[in-house]
Amino acid sequence: MHHFHYSGSDLVCESVDLAAVARLYGTPTYVYSAATIADNYRRLRDSLAGLDVQVCYAAKANSNLALLRLCANLGAGFDLVSGGEIRRVLAAGGDVRSSVFAGVGKTEAEIRLALENGIFSLHVESEPELARINHVAGTLGVKAPIAIRVNPDVDAHTHAKITTGKSDNKFGIPLQHAAAAYEAAAKCRNIAIKGVQMHIGSQLTQVGPFTEAVAKVAPFAAELKANFGISYFSIGGGMGIVYRDALASGTQTWWEALPADQRPLTPELYGATLTPLLAPLGLKVLLEHGRFMVGNAGVLLSRVEHLKRGAGKNFLVVDAAMNDLVRPAMYDSYHETVPLHRDSSRRALKVDIVGPICESGDCFAKDRQIQEVGEGELVAFMSAGAYGYSMASRYNTRPLPAEVLVQGRTFELINTRETFAQMTAGEKIPAFLR
Ligand code: LLP
Repeated sequence: MHHFHYSGSDLVCESVDLAAVARLYGTPTYVYSAATIADNYRRLRDSLAGLDVQVCYAAKANSNLALLRLCANLGAGFDLVSGGEIRRVLAAGGDVRSSVFAGVGKTEAEIRLALENGIFSLHVESEPELARINHVAGTLGVKAPIAIRVNPDVDAHTHAKITTGKSDNKFGIPLQHAAAAYEAAAKCRNIAIKGVQMHIGSQLTQVGPFTEAVAKVAPFAAELKANFGISYFSIGGGMGIVYRDALASGTQTWWEALPADQRPLTPELYGATLTPLLAPLGLKVLLEHGRFMVGNAGVLLSRVEHLKRGAGKNFLVVDAAMNDLVRPAMYDSYHETVPLHRDSSRRALKVDIVGPICESGDCFAKDRQIQEVGEGELVAFMSAGAYGYSMASRYNTRPLPAEVLVQGRTFELINTRETFAQMTAGEKIPAFLR
């Protein structure tokens, strides 16, 4: 479910006309729906009925301060992966004490920052990292709360670049070595063992791999509870969202007509399947979903520059590009593209939707059917709330786009479009070239 739909002929977010947002703030601009994020949060929180659940929103999916504040207001903690993300949570007024710190290469400074701010737990990815955390905690005179990330060697059946739970991925400690790692942790003076963690990948569209991984790690978690008194099991994030029928997926029932194996993964199915495996453990459960929280809560608005008729192919050249939304270029991902003004009298065109950047990879869609739109008209790339702005760059000296948050009838700019002065503020011509 989400809150983007046509009201008459015009695409709206909650009760706000998206064309009005584009007129006011220009394009390319990301627009997010607060109600969608709140719905997603509540569905996740309530998915594991009867269990003690803490949602730790994976801030990497979208770390705008306003969205972090919204999540914090809803009761979320955060899954953080850098000192920068820890600072963002602090700046947004979020709670580091209910947040976790993950990542394979945490620096000493980052570990110190996490500990000084009372992080709930550090998710340890290797034995050398354990030693580093022990050392930093010692210099601060504190005990570092930790969980070890175990790698269950389960195939997530997702894109190779976002699979993390196979033994040939860089993440976590193999399940067969994890007991020894916990023994080692127990011997560290400045470490407090708190839990166990796993995460097998991102954009999982079936519940099977989650079930397989939880079933594999649960007996180990039970042993850790008995031997070390752990209190939580973080089962990671990774719940996939609907990209192909993004607009239709706004209504709760659209998929009921589909055969069971083609229905999208929902928090309700995820929860119903995993609760029986998790309940007997008697542990607090942490959920680290990022994409599910914000993915379908955001669109990228863009203006058509030209409809270019090529030899046997038409190109819709838009003002957004791979620097604004890199997912199609990086993961061949599909983002449904819809006109802001729907007009059934227009014919459908088959086009490649491309940005202005000087490489062929700057392409949002190939051979896509879309209502004919001309210069100056507006389109929206759907399901762009996660890993959109957070992966944006300034390639081709294009400014980072603007971001807007909608709530009901109101909307506000939550990030201004970058200026040229901001883009080049850190650069200088060295003396020897002057
Ligand atoms: N927990 C850990 C330890 C993770 O590594 C990740 C994501 C998450 C949670 C959140 O996963 P999510 O619920 O968002 O799937 N840029 C890629 C996705 C990279 C995901 C990296 N790790 C994309 O645009 O598809």
